[in-house]
Amino acid sequence: SPTHRIAPSLLSADFARLGDEVRNVIEAGADWIHFDVMDNHYVPNLTFGPMVCSALKPHARRADGTAVPIDVHLMVEPVDALAQLFADAGADYISFHPEASGHVHRSVQAIRARGCKPGLVFNPATPLDVLDWTIDEIDLILIMSVNPGFGGQSFIDSALRKVEAARRRIEASGRDIRLEVDGGIKADNIARVAAAGADTFVAGSAIFGKPDYRAVIADMRRALEA
Ligand code: DX5
Ligand code: ZN
Repeated sequence: SPTHRIAPSLLSADFARLGDEVRNVIEAGADWIHFDVMDNHYVPNLTFGPMVCSALKPHARRADGTAVPIDVHLMVEPVDALAQLFADAGADYISFHPEASGHVHRSVQAIRARGCKPGLVFNPATPLDVLDWTIDEIDLILIMSVNPGFGGQSFIDSALRKVEAARRRIEASGRDIRLEVDGGIKADNIARVAAAGADTFVAGSAIFGKPDYRAVIADMRRALEA
């Protein structure tokens, strides 16, 4: 379906050549660029910050000049100061883990006030309850199918039921909200994730771990269309 989005995660890219990696994966068919921000506090790993995001922003373009959305996944605590810096750094979507903000609704509104699309992220053990009072304010729900912090982990199957539950909530809201899944997605399980109701698919090691990004993305699209 044309509504599917594939969002390669730079976490598994070559950090010594990030600009090339962004251009190459867009050339290979990426719809979005997924930007994993880890702070060695909310998660036990450390990646990159807003300065790297703004350095990559000019590279996130297709050959025809159209911008490719930058999908910032904040695994940081606290949330608000970094969210504002990422808004200024050219992020399109900014998603955060509700456990990491003392005032989730305010954090969501602050992201929108800076001109970005806010999202909420749910860890494998986190219920969707916070959506009861936030779904009318957000543009994206991100369901984690691994515990955050590292690439290359195995898909946790219980995420599929959570994707189904999130899809029901989106339908009930009547709003246009993207439903994204992150962790352990590959060409051989992406169709199951889509069948559960997801429309946006993060893949790190499955894409950047292979020499031919275009072939992997094409395999994923074939699986989504089958
Ligand atoms: C994990 C990150 C993911 C990660 C996914 O904390 O949020 O985006 O890069 O990597 P793979 O696709 O290798 O599981
Ligand atoms: Zn992520």
